[in-house]
Amino acid sequence: MNKKAEKIRELQEKIKKYNEYYYSKNESLVSDVEYDKLLKDLELLEAGNEQYKIFDSPTLQVGSSLSNTKFKKIQHKKPMLSLSNSYNVTDIDNFIKRTEKSIYKEMNIENKLSYILEVKLDGLSISVIYKKGKLVQAVTRGDGKIGEDVTENVMQIKSIPHFLDEDIDLEARGEVVLPLSKFIKINKERLENGEEVFANPRNAASGTLRQLDAKVVKKRELDCYFYFIVEPLEYGLTTHKEVLEFIKNKGLKTTDIGEKISTVEELDERIKYWEKEKNKLDYETDGMVIKVNEIQYWNTLGNTTKSPRWAIAYKFPAKQVSTKLLDITWQVGRTGKVTPVAELEEVEVSGSRVKRASLHNFDEILRKDIKIGDRVFIEKAAEIIPQVVKPIKEMRTGEEKEIIAPEECPVCHSKLEKEEGFVDLKCTNKNCSAQVQGKIEYFVSRDGMNIMGFGQKIVEKFLELGLIKDITDIYNLKNYREKLEQIEKMGEKSVDNIINSIEESKKRDYSKVLYSLGIPEVGKFLANLLAEKSKNIDKLINMEKEELIEIDGIGEKVGNSVYNFFRNEDNILVVNKLKDYGINFSLGKESKIEKNIFENKTFLATGKLEHFTRNEIKEEIEKFGGKNLSGVSKKLDFLIVGNDAGSKLKKAREIPTIKIISEEEFFQMVKNKNEN
Ligand code: IVH
Repeated sequence: MNKKAEKIRELQEKIKKYNEYYYSKNESLVSDVEYDKLLKDLELLEAGNEQYKIFDSPTLQVGSSLSNTKFKKIQHKKPMLSLSNSYNVTDIDNFIKRTEKSIYKEMNIENKLSYILEVKLDGLSISVIYKKGKLVQAVTRGDGKIGEDVTENVMQIKSIPHFLDEDIDLEARGEVVLPLSKFIKINKERLENGEEVFANPRNAASGTLRQLDAKVVKKRELDCYFYFIVEPLEYGLTTHKEVLEFIKNKGLKTTDIGEKISTVEELDERIKYWEKEKNKLDYETDGMVIKVNEIQYWNTLGNTTKSPRWAIAYKFPAKQVSTKLLDITWQVGRTGKVTPVAELEEVEVSGSRVKRASLHNFDEILRKDIKIGDRVFIEKAAEIIPQVVKPIKEMRTGEEKEIIAPEECPVCHSKLEKEEGFVDLKCTNKNCSAQVQGKIEYFVSRDGMNIMGFGQKIVEKFLELGLIKDITDIYNLKNYREKLEQIEKMGEKSVDNIINSIEESKKRDYSKVLYSLGIPEVGKFLANLLAEKSKNIDKLINMEKEELIEIDGIGEKVGNSVYNFFRNEDNILVVNKLKDYGINFSLGKESKIEKNIFENKTFLATGKLEHFTRNEIKEEIEKFGGKNLSGVSKKLDFLIVGNDAGSKLKKAREIPTIKIISEEEFFQMVKNKNEN
């Protein structure tokens, strides 16, 4: 193979790999800028060497190749195109000159074109099809021609109505995003649960929409903004501005940012404005989009294989900064997971000073090919968690050192293990002080037993003095008052406070206690669910694996983890000791079922329910004193809506006093009422 062919092949392979990670694993291995550059390089090389342009070259594809997916494949009526990118005002100026030249040449028009400037939402694009006003199908972009049917998941997104405000046929396209506020919340929970955090809201949104449990989608609270309809001229719309208004009038959400602009100077000014203002939005944007406003010219301008010539994206500069990687340290967490941490020369990233960044696991170091001494790019994932993006290999001096995975625990020196099929290194010594410390800190944390005055330093001190060896010893501390008072900065008063708070923690709800035990995979939400389902710890301990997995919301992974946790004698010993200290291991008053919570309230269920048969839900309603109605009328208080609900839902929407609720909301009502 000659040099050129080799280079082309190499680039094709490289970009394909990046695509695969991006579309199948929701992971970006390179920054957008770098990706675009590689693709551009490949395009240029292929242009003069058509013989090497293989049929599946990344230059011919839009998006994923759709292998190994579990959703039904659907062909788009019209291809879902991507946008070409620009990075500066010169690029935009060229776009405008090019566009206007080709219009004026062909049409010989007098009037100048106008443009609409929108934000570029950083999520995943979706095409949503309504027939006679009813949502019938939602499809991801996929490779642009064929996407995946994610209708059921999209039905869980509140901002995508199941019915439009008018009974028309419509195919609308937009971007599914995870609001930043929700993203931060989810990542916080994932951190607490010892799960890997999502690198950015886009990955989180795409991971959520492309997974099989619609309930998880509902819980994550995705959002969607629309910016395009198929065949706008058929609706009598002549400008893109009108399209945006039309979309909104029909009940679909738009960003409300669609500014009509005529000159490049104005575009430049407004882009600069939005670059500053974008942080005030509750969704991530990675740039702006400029679209020709007059739809009649879209056809004349046409498309390339990948993108329309009537629009262009402007990408905001990435917030990456470079610094030196001084060293790698290895941190041992409460579950024994050993995580590499990048020790960096201090640098400012998006407004704060950073000198450490997570690297997740050793495989990530290998994949990114990072060496000690490298200059590396750092960015903050979702503005909070500093991450190492990649090394700048061009700046290597030859002095850089290979990073070697540790064989023994950096804290207790016992041999590390790697579970089959997992990438994490683990310290399996249950007495490892780093693990013990992590477990205690987790146990006393605010979401756990919420014991006051028990910060990291104090835990360290107690461990050092041998006052505690595991979580159960916390309840024995009151017998060491004198020793406690002798600790530096711990007067009589603070000892009193700690001891009182420890005693008080014995009253915590069963669900909090379950959370505090630190069962792998079990965070706040699942601890609540397990508490509710098991009622007491003995029942939970004795549950078979299958029984656990049968609980709605508990998958195989969690089921196995809970089952294994209680097959470990040490854990049972801890539970028994805590029981002896009087910790609350059963549902208390919150479990008492109040009988007539639905007294005088009327209900009707419609559509396909997931958790109940029609008779079961009727029984449930009656059990709590409610009354079942057979039709929608003003007498109805609650309409419980399942999948594919039709005329009853429509009718109920016209009666403002009827509350329309999902099955989950119904569960929640029963639960809340019983908790009060
Ligand atoms: S227009 C033919 N408008 O960016 C119309 N796309 O990088 C093409 N995107 O595939 C799309 N915000 O997923 C359009 N205001 C916006 C957008 C937007 C985000 C996404 C969309 C597109 C990708 C291209």
